[in-house]
Amino acid sequence: MTSSRKGIILAGGNATRLYPLTYSVSKQLMPVYDKPMIYYPLSTLMLTGIKEYLVIVSPIHLDAFKTLLGDGNQWGISIKYAIQEKPEGLAQAFLIAEEFIDNHPSALILGDNLYHGNELIPQLEKANIKQTGATIFVYPVSDPERYGVAEFDENKKVINLEEKPRTPKSRYAVTGIYFYDDSAVNKAKQIMPSSRGELEITSLNNLYLKENNLFVEIMGRGMAWLDTGTFDSLHQAGSYIRLLERRQGLKVGCPEEVAWRKNWINKKELKKLAENMLKSGYGKYLLDIQKDPFFEN
Ligand code: G1P
Repeated sequence: MTSSRKGIILAGGNATRLYPLTYSVSKQLMPVYDKPMIYYPLSTLMLTGIKEYLVIVSPIHLDAFKTLLGDGNQWGISIKYAIQEKPEGLAQAFLIAEEFIDNHPSALILGDNLYHGNELIPQLEKANIKQTGATIFVYPVSDPERYGVAEFDENKKVINLEEKPRTPKSRYAVTGIYFYDDSAVNKAKQIMPSSRGELEITSLNNLYLKENNLFVEIMGRGMAWLDTGTFDSLHQAGSYIRLLERRQGLKVGCPEEVAWRKNWINKKELKKLAENMLKSGYGKYLLDIQKDPFFEN
Protein backbone atom coordinates (compact mmCIF):
# COMPACT_ATOMS: atom_id res chain seq x y z
CA MET A 1 0.00 0.00 0.00
CA THR A 2 1.43 3.40 -0.88
CA SER A 3 0.79 6.20 1.51
CA SER A 4 -0.37 9.46 -0.06
CA ARG A 5 2.22 12.20 -0.08
CA LYS A 6 1.52 15.58 1.50
CA GLY A 7 2.62 18.82 -0.13
CA ILE A 8 4.22 21.72 1.71
CA ILE A 9 4.70 25.12 0.12
CA LEU A 10 7.05 27.35 2.04
CA ALA A 11 5.99 30.93 1.44
CA GLY A 12 7.30 32.72 4.54
CA GLY A 13 10.27 35.06 4.83
CA ASN A 14 10.66 38.81 4.56
CA ALA A 15 12.05 39.09 1.01
CA THR A 16 14.12 42.12 1.98
CA ARG A 17 15.93 41.92 -1.36
CA LEU A 18 12.67 43.05 -2.97
CA TYR A 19 11.96 46.03 -0.68
CA PRO A 20 9.89 48.20 -1.05
CA LEU A 21 7.82 45.79 -3.18
CA THR A 22 7.49 43.35 -0.31
CA TYR A 23 6.85 45.72 2.61
CA SER A 24 3.15 44.95 2.58
CA VAL A 25 2.72 42.17 0.01
CA SER A 26 4.25 38.72 0.28
CA LYS A 27 6.90 37.96 -2.31
CA GLN A 28 5.11 34.72 -3.20
CA LEU A 29 2.04 36.76 -4.16
CA MET A 30 3.98 39.04 -6.54
CA PRO A 31 2.95 38.76 -10.17
CA VAL A 32 4.97 36.58 -12.48
CA TYR A 33 3.43 37.88 -15.70
CA ASP A 34 -0.24 36.89 -15.41
CA LYS A 35 -0.37 34.94 -12.14
CA PRO A 36 0.62 35.25 -8.50
CA MET A 37 3.99 33.58 -7.99
CA ILE A 38 2.65 30.81 -5.74
CA TYR A 39 0.49 29.44 -8.59
CA TYR A 40 3.66 28.10 -10.23
CA PRO A 41 5.01 25.91 -7.38
CA LEU A 42 1.48 24.86 -6.46
CA SER A 43 0.80 23.74 -10.04
CA THR A 44 4.14 21.91 -10.10
CA LEU A 45 3.18 19.82 -7.08
CA MET A 46 -0.37 19.34 -8.37
CA LEU A 47 1.13 17.82 -11.51
CA THR A 48 2.62 15.03 -9.37
CA GLY A 49 -0.87 14.18 -8.13
CA ILE A 50 -0.56 15.57 -4.59
CA LYS A 51 -3.94 16.72 -3.28
CA GLU A 52 -3.29 17.81 0.32
CA TYR A 53 -1.30 20.99 0.95
CA LEU A 54 0.03 23.07 3.79
CA VAL A 55 1.04 26.62 2.88
CA ILE A 56 3.46 28.11 5.41
CA VAL A 57 3.33 31.91 5.55
CA SER A 58 4.43 34.91 7.62
CA PRO A 59 1.79 36.07 10.11
CA ILE A 60 1.12 39.39 8.34
CA HIS A 61 0.35 37.69 5.01
CA LEU A 62 -1.97 34.92 6.13
CA ASP A 63 -5.20 36.66 5.15
CA ALA A 64 -3.96 37.52 1.67
CA PHE A 65 -3.03 33.88 0.97
CA LYS A 66 -6.40 32.69 2.26
CA THR A 67 -8.19 35.18 0.01
CA LEU A 68 -6.29 33.92 -3.01
CA LEU A 69 -6.18 30.15 -2.43
CA GLY A 70 -9.05 29.46 -0.01
CA ASP A 71 -9.39 25.89 1.15
CA GLY A 72 -8.45 24.54 -2.28
CA ASN A 73 -11.87 23.01 -2.84
CA GLN A 74 -12.37 25.09 -6.00
CA TRP A 75 -9.46 23.12 -7.55
CA GLY A 76 -10.39 19.74 -6.07
CA ILE A 77 -7.59 19.86 -3.49
CA SER A 78 -7.25 20.69 0.20
CA ILE A 79 -5.18 23.66 1.39
CA LYS A 80 -4.37 24.35 5.02
CA TYR A 81 -2.20 27.12 6.42
CA ALA A 82 0.47 27.43 9.07
CA ILE A 83 2.39 30.41 10.39
CA GLN A 84 6.14 30.77 10.39
CA GLU A 85 6.72 33.38 13.08
CA LYS A 86 10.32 33.98 12.04
CA PRO A 87 12.19 32.53 9.07
CA GLU A 88 14.76 30.22 10.68
CA GLY A 89 15.66 27.98 7.77
CA LEU A 90 13.90 25.76 5.27
CA ALA A 91 14.09 22.65 7.45
CA GLN A 92 11.96 24.49 10.02
CA ALA A 93 9.06 23.72 7.66
CA PHE A 94 9.10 20.13 8.94
CA LEU A 95 8.83 21.21 12.56
CA ILE A 96 5.93 23.51 11.70
CA ALA A 97 4.27 20.86 9.54
CA GLU A 98 4.65 17.89 11.88
CA GLU A 99 0.95 17.53 12.64
CA PHE A 100 -0.07 18.05 9.02
CA ILE A 101 2.46 15.49 7.75
CA ASP A 102 1.17 12.97 10.29
CA ASN A 103 3.86 10.37 9.47
CA HIS A 104 3.25 10.50 5.72
CA PRO A 105 5.80 11.01 2.97
CA SER A 106 5.98 14.64 1.91
CA ALA A 107 7.18 17.00 -0.80
CA LEU A 108 8.44 20.48 -0.04
CA ILE A 109 8.56 23.21 -2.65
CA LEU A 110 9.74 26.77 -2.16
CA GLY A 111 6.98 29.24 -2.93
CA ASP A 112 9.25 31.30 -5.17
CA ASN A 113 10.65 28.50 -7.34
CA LEU A 114 9.54 28.22 -10.97
CA TYR A 115 10.12 25.10 -13.02
CA HIS A 116 9.34 24.52 -16.65
CA GLY A 117 10.24 21.87 -19.16
CA ASN A 118 9.33 18.54 -20.69
CA GLU A 119 11.36 16.46 -18.28
CA LEU A 120 9.62 17.92 -15.26
CA ILE A 121 6.58 15.67 -14.95
CA PRO A 122 8.39 12.32 -15.50
CA GLN A 123 11.12 13.35 -13.05
CA LEU A 124 8.65 14.38 -10.38
CA GLU A 125 6.54 11.27 -10.90
CA LYS A 126 9.61 9.09 -10.45
CA ALA A 127 10.38 10.84 -7.16
CA ASN A 128 6.78 10.64 -6.04
CA ILE A 129 6.62 6.85 -6.43
CA LYS A 130 9.52 6.28 -4.01
CA GLN A 131 8.24 5.61 -0.51
CA THR A 132 11.67 5.47 1.15
CA GLY A 133 14.54 7.91 1.16
CA ALA A 134 14.65 11.41 -0.27
CA THR A 135 14.92 12.79 -3.79
CA ILE A 136 16.46 16.14 -4.63
CA PHE A 137 17.03 17.82 -7.99
CA VAL A 138 20.23 19.53 -9.05
CA TYR A 139 20.63 22.02 -11.88
CA PRO A 140 23.74 23.57 -13.42
CA VAL A 141 24.05 27.28 -12.67
CA SER A 142 26.67 29.94 -13.28
CA ASP A 143 26.65 31.12 -9.64
CA PRO A 144 26.55 27.96 -7.47
CA GLU A 145 27.90 29.79 -4.40
CA ARG A 146 24.39 31.23 -3.89
CA TYR A 147 22.85 27.79 -3.35
CA GLY A 148 23.19 24.35 -1.81
CA VAL A 149 25.80 22.63 -3.98
CA ALA A 150 26.42 18.95 -4.75
CA GLU A 151 29.88 17.40 -4.69
CA PHE A 152 30.37 14.36 -6.95
CA ASP A 153 32.95 11.57 -6.87
CA GLU A 154 34.61 10.16 -10.01
CA ASN A 155 31.58 7.85 -10.54
CA LYS A 156 29.26 10.88 -10.62
CA LYS A 157 27.82 9.88 -7.28
CA VAL A 158 26.96 12.68 -4.86
CA ILE A 159 29.19 12.45 -1.78
CA ASN A 160 28.34 15.69 -0.01
CA LEU A 161 26.11 18.75 -0.10
CA GLU A 162 27.32 22.15 1.01
CA GLU A 163 25.21 25.22 1.74
CA LYS A 164 26.44 28.35 -0.02
CA PRO A 165 30.07 27.25 -0.21
CA ARG A 166 32.70 29.88 -0.85
CA THR A 167 34.46 27.47 -3.19
CA PRO A 168 31.75 25.33 -4.81
CA LYS A 169 32.78 21.75 -5.63
CA SER A 170 30.55 21.69 -8.72
CA ARG A 171 28.18 23.86 -10.77
CA TYR A 172 25.20 21.80 -9.64
CA ALA A 173 22.86 23.71 -7.35
CA VAL A 174 20.20 21.96 -5.30
CA THR A 175 16.85 23.32 -6.46
CA GLY A 176 13.89 24.14 -4.26
CA ILE A 177 11.81 20.99 -4.59
CA TYR A 178 12.40 18.03 -2.28
CA PHE A 179 10.66 14.66 -1.83
CA TYR A 180 10.96 12.91 1.53
CA ASP A 181 9.83 9.69 3.14
CA ASP A 182 8.00 9.62 6.46
CA SER A 183 11.20 10.15 8.50
CA ALA A 184 11.74 13.82 7.49
CA VAL A 185 10.18 15.29 10.65
CA ASN A 186 12.30 13.15 12.98
CA LYS A 187 15.41 13.97 11.01
CA ALA A 188 14.60 17.70 11.03
CA LYS A 189 14.44 17.54 14.82
CA GLN A 190 18.08 16.40 14.91
CA ILE A 191 19.38 19.37 12.95
CA MET A 192 21.34 22.13 14.68
CA PRO A 193 21.36 25.72 13.36
CA SER A 194 24.15 26.49 10.89
CA SER A 195 26.68 29.30 11.21
CA ARG A 196 24.12 31.66 9.62
CA GLY A 197 21.69 30.60 12.36
CA GLU A 198 19.35 28.56 10.14
CA LEU A 199 18.01 25.02 10.15
CA GLU A 200 19.38 24.19 6.71
CA ILE A 201 17.58 21.93 4.28
CA THR A 202 21.08 20.93 3.20
CA SER A 203 21.63 19.43 6.68
CA LEU A 204 18.44 17.39 6.32
CA ASN A 205 19.52 16.17 2.89
CA ASN A 206 22.96 15.28 4.22
CA LEU A 207 21.30 13.10 6.89
CA TYR A 208 19.61 11.11 4.10
CA LEU A 209 22.90 10.99 2.21
CA LYS A 210 24.68 9.56 5.26
CA GLU A 211 22.08 6.78 5.38
CA ASN A 212 22.70 6.13 1.71
CA ASN A 213 19.11 7.09 1.09
CA LEU A 214 19.40 10.24 -0.99
CA PHE A 215 18.49 10.10 -4.68
CA VAL A 216 19.85 12.93 -6.77
CA GLU A 217 18.22 13.71 -10.09
CA ILE A 218 19.87 16.00 -12.59
CA MET A 219 17.64 18.55 -14.27
CA GLY A 220 19.08 18.91 -17.74
CA ARG A 221 19.78 21.91 -19.91
CA GLY A 222 16.34 21.68 -21.52
CA MET A 223 14.75 22.60 -18.22
CA ALA A 224 14.16 26.04 -16.79
CA TRP A 225 14.55 26.61 -13.06
CA LEU A 226 14.00 30.27 -12.45
CA ASP A 227 14.82 32.55 -9.59
CA THR A 228 12.59 35.41 -8.49
CA GLY A 229 14.54 36.91 -5.59
CA THR A 230 15.65 40.23 -7.08
CA PHE A 231 14.04 42.93 -9.22
CA ASP A 232 15.84 41.66 -12.29
CA SER A 233 15.22 37.95 -11.79
CA LEU A 234 11.55 38.62 -10.98
CA HIS A 235 11.21 40.64 -14.16
CA GLN A 236 13.07 38.02 -16.20
CA ALA A 237 10.84 35.22 -14.89
CA GLY A 238 7.79 37.25 -15.94
CA SER A 239 9.28 37.86 -19.40
CA TYR A 240 10.07 34.16 -19.82
CA ILE A 241 6.50 33.14 -18.96
CA ARG A 242 5.06 35.86 -21.18
CA LEU A 243 7.16 34.79 -24.14
CA LEU A 244 6.17 31.14 -23.82
CA GLU A 245 2.51 31.80 -23.18
CA ARG A 246 2.13 34.24 -26.07
CA ARG A 247 3.94 31.95 -28.48
CA GLN A 248 2.03 28.77 -27.62
CA GLY A 249 -1.26 30.12 -26.37
CA LEU A 250 -0.82 27.76 -23.41
CA LYS A 251 -0.39 28.82 -19.82
CA VAL A 252 2.37 27.73 -17.47
CA GLY A 253 1.49 27.25 -13.81
CA CYS A 254 -2.28 27.42 -14.10
CA PRO A 255 -3.82 25.47 -11.18
CA GLU A 256 -7.32 25.57 -12.68
CA GLU A 257 -6.04 23.87 -15.81
CA VAL A 258 -4.06 21.23 -13.90
CA ALA A 259 -7.10 20.47 -11.72
CA TRP A 260 -9.27 20.03 -14.82
CA ARG A 261 -6.74 17.92 -16.73
CA LYS A 262 -6.31 15.71 -13.65
CA ASN A 263 -10.08 15.29 -13.55
CA TRP A 264 -10.26 16.81 -10.06
CA ILE A 265 -12.84 19.32 -11.31
CA ASN A 266 -15.29 18.89 -14.15
CA LYS A 267 -16.17 21.10 -17.12
CA LYS A 268 -18.96 22.83 -15.25
CA GLU A 269 -16.68 23.69 -12.33
CA LEU A 270 -13.96 24.96 -14.66
CA LYS A 271 -16.52 27.13 -16.44
CA LYS A 272 -17.61 28.60 -13.12
CA LEU A 273 -14.00 29.52 -12.26
CA ALA A 274 -13.59 31.08 -15.70
CA GLU A 275 -16.64 33.29 -15.40
CA ASN A 276 -15.10 35.48 -12.69
CA MET A 277 -12.04 36.19 -14.80
CA LEU A 278 -13.34 36.84 -18.29
CA LYS A 279 -12.25 40.48 -18.30
CA SER A 280 -8.57 39.65 -17.81
CA GLY A 281 -8.46 37.01 -20.53
CA TYR A 282 -7.47 34.35 -17.99
CA GLY A 283 -11.07 33.19 -17.89
CA LYS A 284 -11.29 32.96 -21.67
CA TYR A 285 -8.22 30.73 -21.60
CA LEU A 286 -9.99 28.39 -19.16
CA LEU A 287 -12.96 28.19 -21.53
CA ASP A 288 -10.76 27.68 -24.59
CA ILE A 289 -8.75 24.76 -23.20
CA GLN A 290 -11.97 22.78 -23.05
CA LYS A 291 -11.92 22.77 -26.83
CA ASP A 292 -8.48 21.08 -27.00
CA PRO A 293 -8.95 18.30 -29.60
CA PHE A 294 -6.21 16.18 -27.99
CA PHE A 295 -7.80 16.20 -24.59
CA GLU A 296 -11.30 15.34 -23.49
CA ASN A 297 -12.54 15.55 -19.94
C1 G1P B 1 17.73 27.74 -0.18
C2 G1P B 1 18.51 26.52 0.27
C3 G1P B 1 19.54 26.14 -0.80
C4 G1P B 1 18.86 25.94 -2.14
C5 G1P B 1 18.02 27.18 -2.50
C6 G1P B 1 17.18 26.93 -3.73
O1 G1P B 1 18.56 28.87 -0.21
O2 G1P B 1 19.12 26.79 1.52
O3 G1P B 1 20.18 24.95 -0.43
O4 G1P B 1 19.83 25.70 -3.14
O5 G1P B 1 17.13 27.52 -1.43
O6 G1P B 1 16.50 28.09 -4.13
P1 G1P B 1 18.09 30.30 0.38
O7 G1P B 1 16.69 30.52 -0.11
O8 G1P B 1 18.16 30.19 1.85
O9 G1P B 1 19.07 31.27 -0.18
